[in-house]
Order: sequence, then C-alpha cells, then structure tokens
Amino acid sequence: VVLVVDFGAQYAQLIARRVREARVYSEIVPSTMPVAEMLARNPRAIILSGGPSSVYAEGAPSIDRSLFEAGVPVFGMCYGFQIMATTLGGTVDDNGAREYGRTPLAVSKAGSTLFEGTPTEQSVWMSHGDACSAAPEGFTVTASTDVVPVAAFENDEKKLYGVQYHPEVMHSTYGQQVLEHFLYRGAGIEPTWTTTNVVEEQIALIREQVGDKRAICGLSGGVDSAVAAALVQKAIGSQLTCVYVDHGLMRKGETEQVEKDFVAATGAKLKVVDAEKRFLDALAGVSDPEQKRKIIGREFIRVFEQAQLEILQEDGPEVAFLVQGTLYPDVVESGGGTGTANIKSHHNVGGLPDDIEFQLVEPLRQLFKDEVRMVGQELGLPEEIVQRQPFPGPGLGIRIVGDVTKERLDLLREADAIAREELTAAGLDRDIWQCPVVLLADVRSVGVQGDGRTYGHPIVLRPVSSEDAMTADWSRLPYETLAKISTRITNEVAEVNRVVLDVTSKPPGTIEWE
Ligand code: XMP
Repeated sequence: VVLVVDFGAQYAQLIARRVREARVYSEIVPSTMPVAEMLARNPRAIILSGGPSSVYAEGAPSIDRSLFEAGVPVFGMCYGFQIMATTLGGTVDDNGAREYGRTPLAVSKAGSTLFEGTPTEQSVWMSHGDACSAAPEGFTVTASTDVVPVAAFENDEKKLYGVQYHPEVMHSTYGQQVLEHFLYRGAGIEPTWTTTNVVEEQIALIREQVGDKRAICGLSGGVDSAVAAALVQKAIGSQLTCVYVDHGLMRKGETEQVEKDFVAATGAKLKVVDAEKRFLDALAGVSDPEQKRKIIGREFIRVFEQAQLEILQEDGPEVAFLVQGTLYPDVVESGGGTGTANIKSHHNVGGLPDDIEFQLVEPLRQLFKDEVRMVGQELGLPEEIVQRQPFPGPGLGIRIVGDVTKERLDLLREADAIAREELTAAGLDRDIWQCPVVLLADVRSVGVQGDGRTYGHPIVLRPVSSEDAMTADWSRLPYETLAKISTRITNEVAEVNRVVLDVTSKPPGTIEWE
C-alpha cells in the first residue's frame, strides 16, 4: 500500500486516485495518525498531500521527523513539500511569494528521478503562500519558478522527494508522469494493482466473512448497489438474496432492467416487491417536496423490512449479513477507519425483532466511483447498469411539481424515455452528468395543435454537467438535439404542449426541482 497523508485539503482523494491510475494501491490516512502507526502498515511509499495552512500558522499540522528516517520513500506535494523542507532543516519563507494557478516551471536537472524524460519548461498548478528558499542538506534542487527558487528537490540516497506544486491536478501537464516516476523509479514499486485483483481479493474476503450464513442486499437500480450485489453473489451464490422495492416511481424500463438484465448477468436470487399501490396511496394529495421525500423514505423502510422479515422466516442458515454499496469517499469523509461496523437495522417503524443485528458486508469500501464501474464491467454487468447516470432514491416522485398520481407518472415516464433515447442517440450520455425531466403538473399553458386549442402541461428539461453534484452547470446541448426532444415529446405525449429548458446553474438552483 501507498499511504497518502491528508493534511486537510481536498487534494488527498485526488492523489489517491492518481496513484491507483498508476496501478498502485493507495489509501488515505489523516496527518494526525502517529508515524509509528503509519509505518506499522508497511507502506511501500508515503505521499504528503497539500493542505490549507501555512507551515507557520498556529496549530498548523506537522509530521514527526521519524517519518523521514524510516527508509520508506516519501513524496511531499505543496504543503507536504514545505513540511518536508522545514522538518529536515531547509528554509521556508513567509515572504508573500504567492503563486496561484497555472505557472511555468523551469526544470534545472532534466535527468532527475522525478523529471526524467519531461521537458525543461513545463506548466504546473500552484497554490501556495510561503516559498522554499533553501533545500535541506543532502537534497538537490531540481526545479524553480520566477517566484520560488526551490520548487522541487530530491534526495535519491534517502528516497525523499518533493514538489511545491500539485502534480495530481490535470493542469500540471506532466504531473501524472512525475508521480509515476516517484512510484516506479523512486520507490521501486511495480504497477500491478488492477480491478481484476480487486475482484479476486474481495471474493475471497467475502467468502471468509460470510461463511455458510446468508446475506441480504437491497438493490436500488443504481450502480453501487448493483456492483456490490454482483460481487457478493459471485462469492456466495444462492446464500445471497437481493431485494428490490418497486415503488412505482421508477423510470420506464428500469424495474424490468433490474429484473431481467441484472439477474441474467449475475444469476442472483432476486425478490421484487411490488409496492406501487402502497406508495401512491401514501402520496395521494401531497404536493410539498419535503413531505413527499419523508413519505417515500418511510414507506421504503417499511417495505424493505417486511421483505427482510420474509427472508428471515425462510428455511436456511442464519441471515447475518447486510450488503451495502458504500464507496471509499464515504469512508474517508466519515473519518476513515477499517474494520466492519455493526449496525442495527431500523426497527422503529417496521416489524423486525429488536434483537436482529446485521453485520455489514461492504465490498466497495476501498473503491472510487470510476473503479466501481470498472469492477461492474469486469463482472459482466450490462453497460446500461454500469454507466448509469445518478437517479434520486425518491425517483419520479420528486420530478412532478404537484401531487403524484399514476396518470402523471405515466406521462412523465413517456417524456423522460424520449429525452433519454434522443440524448443517447446523439452520443451525449458521457457529456452530461444527468438530465432530470420534470413535469409541471400544477401549471397549464395554452397551445395549438392540429386545428384546436390545447391547455396542457409543460415539461422541463434539466441537463447538467457536474463533477460531484455539489455544484453543477446547465449543459449546452446542441439545438438539433433539443429540437428533436421537444418535437417528439409534444407530438407523442398527450397533455404536454410545451417543452422548456432549465438554464440555471447550481447554486442557485439544485439539480432536482424538489
Ligand atoms: P440536488 O437536487 O440536491 O441533487 O442538486 C444532487 C444529486 O443528488 C441526487 N438526489 C438524490 N439522490 N436520494 C438520492 O439517492 C435523494 O433523495 C436525492 N435527492 C437528490 C440528484 O439526482 C443529484 O444527482
């Protein structure tokens, strides 16, 4: 493992991903972890990330000198670079020598371990206040900028390396190469980590964890739960039962996709609960978005628990495990840590006995989203599942502005299917993050179709581009595609006589309308 020491910026996850792109397994640890604990994990190398502080700020995170004396190769980036410099006796000045953004870097030692084979002038991404003016003893300065005399240094003998910039961001043109030079040349690591290894390793671990007991997995139709279920089913076969709650708020073809494609690809035992009537009854007459969300969440838990109870009562070994599609970013954001948590399933509303405890099986805990998709592909799941765009748990229930009825859902399903079909036909699926299609059920406008006046509902198209759904911009879709979608929806979906495009970014608008 390569450890990425997180100094509290948003960069650590990106670094860990880049290391894995170099086919070397990496994990993130907090900078507060004692060095002895880091070393106890036998890392092949350690990377010190950037961070928000100045090394001179009060309470700025530091690192114990023993880290650099353990014989483990270390690569410091930005704040990590400055920590390395000050800890080992170099000089970092708080002299206002700031650099932000794209900066030209002059490589002064072209044949160095990090810069071998890269140009002497290269563009890098900087983001710092203080600057290093003298490297520690025994280090060679390998690059500088107009502002910073020491922008990179190396000590090949001790296997210690550092750069002032952020090699992990896309704007550092040779960043990935420099990182790979550290891993392969500096630390002597072979690039052998692949999703194939992950699949094999996880299958063995799951078998060991579950033994001959049984497990349950809730399928949402999304990528994560589908891949987690497929992996567990490959490991323990019929000891796993998947539960899919059809709340009647899914898009056209989605339930069938889970029922047919997922089962065909994995051979998993699937229990589909048809709960459409129950959900629609509970939602009748409700138009407040928060209330809708609460009702859907509550009913979901009830139905899921009922299904669990039925499985528990079936003959067979103890049902001791619950499979979840937790991803690595969730793990890091909730404070990291390994080992399996023990949770009690919600039993406050439904019918599960108080003493039922499930142990979690979370085979995707180590993976980033794009890696999960690769594992899904590896397991033979169809493209439509693996490349699926995000879709909210409450489904179309929060894409109808107004109260939710079966008729309105059917109408929205048709409009949504047309939009998806045309976006796919235009090859735009990978360019957009997702495209909610919203029915303004409480709004009517006048139109003319054939010879007659119509008084119908508008449909809103909300195509967005985003990296993580926290912020988003509206996608500039080609006019021809928009025209096709508009024409088809107004022609093919009765009651819709107008299609409008949402041109709001997030913030201020959220991606969904409710
Ligand atoms: P907003 O509307 O908050 O959405 O900009 C951000 C992202 O989250 C999705 N979303 C949900 N996903 N359960 C989910 O699983 C929910 O209740 C939910 N609400 C919004 C939304 O589709 C977008 O990708």
